[in-house]
Amino acid sequence: MIEKIKKTAEFLLRHAEDKPVAGIILGSGLGGLVNSMSVKRSFNYNEVPDFPVSTVEGHRGRLIFGELEGKNVVAMQGRLHYYEGYSIQQITFPVRVMKLLGIRHLFLSNAAGGLNKSFTAGDLMIITDHINLFSDNPLRGKNLDGLGPRFPEMSEPYDRTLIAKAKKIAKENNIKVKSGIYVGSSGPTLETPSEYRHFRIIGADATGMSTVPEVIVARHMNITCFGISVITNLAEPEDPDSPTTHDQVKSVAESAEPKMTLIFKKLIASL
Ligand code: HPA
Repeated sequence: MIEKIKKTAEFLLRHAEDKPVAGIILGSGLGGLVNSMSVKRSFNYNEVPDFPVSTVEGHRGRLIFGELEGKNVVAMQGRLHYYEGYSIQQITFPVRVMKLLGIRHLFLSNAAGGLNKSFTAGDLMIITDHINLFSDNPLRGKNLDGLGPRFPEMSEPYDRTLIAKAKKIAKENNIKVKSGIYVGSSGPTLETPSEYRHFRIIGADATGMSTVPEVIVARHMNITCFGISVITNLAEPEDPDSPTTHDQVKSVAESAEPKMTLIFKKLIASL
């Protein structure tokens, strides 16, 4: 595993000009941030050795090196999901590669269902913590001692300083943000009414099918993380007449995307 990670990182370092300080993973309908980048080099995932190839509708699958707000970054436009059939180690492989490229911070966005009753569709939620309900953990198996400890502590999965800065940025720019806890599970099924209720009871504010594995791997390697969920739909267990569709998720995400992008850009500028 470590050999593959090194080989892919060496390939990218040979082809990309500058080492990135931050990685960015953009979720469903949230890829527009790359339009603010001055792109230096871009790879389709199928051009990168050992990168799994993204298949889900709405995900383009490009690894993009460039400058954002004067900082060198590497962005994944289109993330890899567990429900596509990859192993949990495969979907988190790019984060490990990014560590060897030099990143110290990871910015993640996702589309999520709102569980908190005060949320509405189109809200942004700064992720303050998560609950892992994937049936797997990317760190299961032999520990990669060169990357991090066997039992990584997870007391601050999302960086408090970045969260505080993001709230300040949102306020200064008249962007309303919520904050809360994200519960991640494998999908691809959306939740049953009872599952939505379960997630509320255990204390989650939003639910989705990503982010948690990537953050676990990043924290193992001591990368600081910051995440935003775009609330694309509300979990309404009592309303079987308004089921959530993937098209709805994508279109709400796309309309909320500029607000999220602004927060990411200003946060990255402040690094
Ligand atoms: N559940 C799980 N994942 C999601 C949802 C949801 O309601 N909305 C967007 N991604």
